[in-house]
Amino acid sequence: MPVIAVINRKGGSGKSTLATHLAAWLANQGIAVMLGDVDRQQSTRTWLKRRPAPLAPIAGWSVGQKNTLKAPPGITHVVLDTPGGMHGFELSKVIMSTDVVLMPVCNSLFDRESAGQCLQELRAMPRVASGRCRLAVIGMRLDARTRAVDTLREWASSHTVPFIGVLRETQAYVRSLDSGFTLFDPHKPLQTADIAQWEPILEWTRQACGMQANPTPAPELVTPAVSEPSKVAAPRANSLMPAQESLVHGSRLTVFAHGPKPANEDHSPALSVRAAGSQALPQFLLRKPAA
Ligand SMILES: Nc1ncnc2c1ncn2[C@@H]1O[C@H](COP(=O)(O)OP(=O)(O)OP(=O)(O)O)[C@@H](O)[C@H]1O
Ligand SMILES: [Mg+2]
Repeated sequence: MPVIAVINRKGGSGKSTLATHLAAWLANQGIAVMLGDVDRQQSTRTWLKRRPAPLAPIAGWSVGQKNTLKAPPGITHVVLDTPGGMHGFELSKVIMSTDVVLMPVCNSLFDRESAGQCLQELRAMPRVASGRCRLAVIGMRLDARTRAVDTLREWASSHTVPFIGVLRETQAYVRSLDSGFTLFDPHKPLQTADIAQWEPILEWTRQACGMQANPTPAPELVTPAVSEPSKVAAPRANSLMPAQESLVHGSRLTVFAHGPKPANEDHSPALSVRAAGSQALPQFLLRKPAA
């Protein structure tokens, strides 16, 4: 099961924006995707609650017996949003189950410095060092015509990390996310230029995850008016809250379990442990019961 984590220790770099869009891109291809919020702010969970029901569905965490966090049955792809400042033990636990790290980076000295430290820490982790988890950088909020893009590309090159694309600054992201949409959902007006910017990013991600080029398309969707509150999806069960809120503290975040692996995947034995009683498709993340 491909797991894509969006990581950068620099706050406000665009992680949640990127994570929500990746999840919606997968969902709109008919893929059963979970958007997992490892972020104490629960930004993407808030967004999921706003997502209108007729749109391509994106699952959140579910809570199993013994207060375990896991992907709901049938999930085949996972996108993880992570908090700013994540490092050390918390970061290594997320990386243990991650196949692809996408790092959104804005172009300022401070952003590059912080992202550089994050890359350095990631590189030292065995799963990254061995190539089982791949890294790539995306330039965020950049005007592709400016020198800033070259600066960031050169910076990425100096860190020997692929620079796979640039997303411009536009209120279209802010507006669509406000309503539970992304640019990949049926919406008016279609942001053609912005969708085009995503293409190299999605192509790299697709290849890095070993995904087929043409998955089953999603069924045609009815686009609701954004302002209609009656169309907003019901919030997830309240029972999700306690487990999710404590996730970033993490001492109880212990085992990642995977379902059937694609042929080209090479999870370490520790990561392939399946929880007792798990479904054919995976229990994703288990925590020990609260003390
Ligand atoms: N391409 C963009 N154009 C315009 N605004 C953007 C773009 N990307 C992100 N933003 C805005 O920048 C702000 C920070 O983005 P976001 O919340 O995705 O960052 P984050 O890395 O998840 O932050 P945190 O570290 O606090 O979790 C948000 O207000 C978001 O709407
Ligand atoms: Mg965020």
